[in-house]
Amino acid sequence: MQQPLIIQGALPVECEYLARQLTHVEKETVGGWVFWKGLYQGFPIIISKTRMGMTNSAAATAIAILKYQPCAIINQGTSGGHDPELNVFDIVLGKAVCNIGAFKTPRRALGEGSDSLTWMEAFDVLPEDETDPEPIAIRHFQADEGLLNAAQQVKSTYTQGKVVEGIIGSADVWNNELDRIAFFRETYGTVTEEMEGASVAQVATQFAVPFLALRVVSNNLTNQQGYDAATGKACQDFVLNVVIEYLQARSS
Ligand code: 5AD
Repeated sequence: MQQPLIIQGALPVECEYLARQLTHVEKETVGGWVFWKGLYQGFPIIISKTRMGMTNSAAATAIAILKYQPCAIINQGTSGGHDPELNVFDIVLGKAVCNIGAFKTPRRALGEGSDSLTWMEAFDVLPEDETDPEPIAIRHFQADEGLLNAAQQVKSTYTQGKVVEGIIGSADVWNNELDRIAFFRETYGTVTEEMEGASVAQVATQFAVPFLALRVVSNNLTNQQGYDAATGKACQDFVLNVVIEYLQARSS
């Protein structure tokens, strides 16, 4: 039996269109997580609605891996640009994803306030040395080469914006402070942010399942471009091309 490929989206606007493209669909609900199992161009594909945020997406990923033994996982959806060169509808292929919500803060006494721009120590939640209670490092989860190559191969099929490679940052935070966004761009190298990719990568890595995050820019405060919900469908259309390219290359 061929292993399925899993495509994840957090919100209905990021996955229900994908689910409608499948044939022979069977919907399965596990806890709070929905999976649509079916075929796309003859290949077994599972669309997973992870729901929003790091915890939901980690749980959806662990369930999917144990239940369906996927050959690969692609996490896709909307995101907020950190780079003013990126326009709404541009797509970022995540050459790496990193957690931008884990820190060890400097000490400050009561009454001294809080300033996140001084939070220079990233907390590595997946350290090599598990005995270290305060591991400090920025961890970049690298994309699987085969998946990234497939996405590069079909770049030209996308006509609603440009497709670039970059680092995607994830946290249970929607950042609207431009100095904070600039900090992430400088320190972590992020070009866009969302709330799931690094969490999915962290789980997929521990199960050694190939992983790629790809995100459409749906809003970008750094160049004053507001949220456009139509970007969700654009990203879903593109990801299907990536998947077919990847699976065809794999089966040939
Ligand atoms: N910051 C954080 N998450 C964003 N998302 C879209 N834009 C942003 C942004 N600027 C995505 C997240 C989450 C939902 C709020 O949309 O991944 O699932």
